Amino acid sequence: MSNDQGTIEARLTEQEYFRPPSKFVGQANVSDPAVYDRFDDFPEGFEEYADLLDWEQRWDETFDGSNPPFFEWFVGGKLNASYNCVDRHLDERKNRTALLWEGEGGEQRNITYRDLYREVNTMAAVLREVGVQEDDVVTLHLPMLPALPITMLACARIGAPHSEVFAGFSASALADRIDDADSDVVVTVDGYYRRGEFLDHKQKADQAVEEADSDVDTVLVWERHEGDLHDDVELVEGRDVLVSELQADHERARVDPVTRDAEDPLFLMYTSGTTGQPKGCQHRTGGYLSYVTGTSKYVLDIEPDDTYWCAADIGWITGHSYIVYGPLALGTTSVMYEGAPDHPHKGRIWETAEKYDVDVFHTSPTAVRMFMKWGEQYLAEYDFDFRHMTTVGEPIQPEAWLWYYKHIGDEDAVIVDTWWQTETGGHLITNLPAIQDMKPGSAGRPCPGIEPAILDDDGDEIEPRSGRAGNLAITRPWPGMLQTVYGDDERFIDEYWQRFSDTDSDDWRDWNYEAGDGAVHEEDGYFRILGRLDDVMNVAGHRLGTMELESAIAEVEDVAEAAVAAREDAEKGEVPDAYVTLREGVEATEEVRERIVAAVEDEIGKFARPANVVFCDDLPKTRSGKIMRRLLADISNEEELGDTTTLRDPSVPERIREQVHGD
Ligand code: WTA
Repeated sequence: MSNDQGTIEARLTEQEYFRPPSKFVGQANVSDPAVYDRFDDFPEGFEEYADLLDWEQRWDETFDGSNPPFFEWFVGGKLNASYNCVDRHLDERKNRTALLWEGEGGEQRNITYRDLYREVNTMAAVLREVGVQEDDVVTLHLPMLPALPITMLACARIGAPHSEVFAGFSASALADRIDDADSDVVVTVDGYYRRGEFLDHKQKADQAVEEADSDVDTVLVWERHEGDLHDDVELVEGRDVLVSELQADHERARVDPVTRDAEDPLFLMYTSGTTGQPKGCQHRTGGYLSYVTGTSKYVLDIEPDDTYWCAADIGWITGHSYIVYGPLALGTTSVMYEGAPDHPHKGRIWETAEKYDVDVFHTSPTAVRMFMKWGEQYLAEYDFDFRHMTTVGEPIQPEAWLWYYKHIGDEDAVIVDTWWQTETGGHLITNLPAIQDMKPGSAGRPCPGIEPAILDDDGDEIEPRSGRAGNLAITRPWPGMLQTVYGDDERFIDEYWQRFSDTDSDDWRDWNYEAGDGAVHEEDGYFRILGRLDDVMNVAGHRLGTMELESAIAEVEDVAEAAVAAREDAEKGEVPDAYVTLREGVEATEEVRERIVAAVEDEIGKFARPANVVFCDDLPKTRSGKIMRRLLADISNEEELGDTTTLRDPSVPERIREQVHGD
């Protein structure tokens, strides 16, 4: 497949189908194909998801499409997300575990719905005490500790949208997001464990607050070990407040859940795009919560009595939708694990699955490839039995799918390959596990009510089921979709709608959402996702914009120009290769290379580190000066060089190729 040139090709081999086991079908939450017909009744079909929630006031209108692409869902409805995820379970299941948290070192916390209720109320009171008001955006920079879902739900309780920044992001990345969201309050923790080391995490918030233009007046600091602050952490007088100190004043606090309009924002989640700074995807309360609750029930097949484990990080959308909001709204028990999957040994995940008797397991293709590389021997010792497994975030190669199916699922669990995005809020393309057969490498059918189309580069629809690759678009709105890019409606239109919509039209039917992915609609009606067509890459399930990497590198003294290309990697899916030209007279030394790597770590985070830094004399450019990253990707992936005739100097890519691979 190629990107920026429009010719999208797919080389796919046919795969066989796998039937869901009949014992799964017999117990599934949805097994009647009539569900698709119900949801085809647009927009009322989606009320089936909204009806899973408790509303303070029912909506007057299911969908308002009168001002595209600013669609509204469940208009006039009122609800609170924290109430739906916590309070409403108290009557029937207050002693049931909501979160089973396991620390990397082996500590455990069993948080019941009643405990969660108390903790969320107390934290809501703490947030209020430091001045957070309804509609203030609170930035969180928390790792996989109970503090994270508790803080999210406390924000939701008082109607303050949260903006959680993945803990692996650097101080600078955090500062950018604090500024964009204009947050006055930042919530962090002193430290957490990663591969046995007690990391000083708060230093990133300290540096970020210093770098940010926004006036952060309060940094709330959770403690990993309550009452025993990390040795390296210092509190800044007048700004930093220990959560535990304020908690003591609010131990028995009861904070009424604030009544929110269905269209009031619930949270922001920043994600990488093709241009400029990351964008804050703004998600609404009613539509989002309905959609993630519905898909948790129908796609993940979660039942209230299940123990469910999504081994993602809550710092990304997967964790928001399918660790926190969907599963808790359904009242289930979720496992949360703090640390590295191979600490202290490579059987840690399976040991944990056995210990908590996990029924439904959710992970990424990157993790599956890693488990596969480690080998089956780490599984053999442990006795666990999954009914249902998910993959999310990247295309899964049939080989990895088959390994997952055989060795982890014991050929006895269903697998759903779920395609969706930060922007879509929840799953859009995936099979319903009791209804369709599984096919390795294929996400499957659209979810109920979802209408994808494959468009050519002119925006014309490629014939359905033709097996021809094209641009994936969604032609009908759905409740989980982002409302806008925070503070930038124009960018929202530019990034997602401009290309395939008639933007002069006020009929929602003329508006098509551009996913940015290439896909094929196969003869059997299944969709195969080929990957991003734009300059966004997927590194071990972390979404990264080439632009962000390039601007981090370009800031390094001595660097003249930089271009980043995605190289396919057997384990991480993709890794970034950096192609760099240096200023006149500067020598390409190890020291410069190290400064480039450090710049990426500082600007974005360690997970974004370039795999290779290639120093070149020149970069492949068109006559108008546009860098042809596609050719660099060809070099990185040892593929034949694409068309070079439009280049200002057609010999450049060949020279770089020889330099990299020799000849
Ligand atoms: C990719 C993650 C193939 C895709 C939920 C998309 C997938 C991007 C799949 C969004 C899948 C996600 N098969 N590719 N099942 N799921 N992707 O925003 O390229 O972190 O555009 O959301 O991941 O990444 P994001």
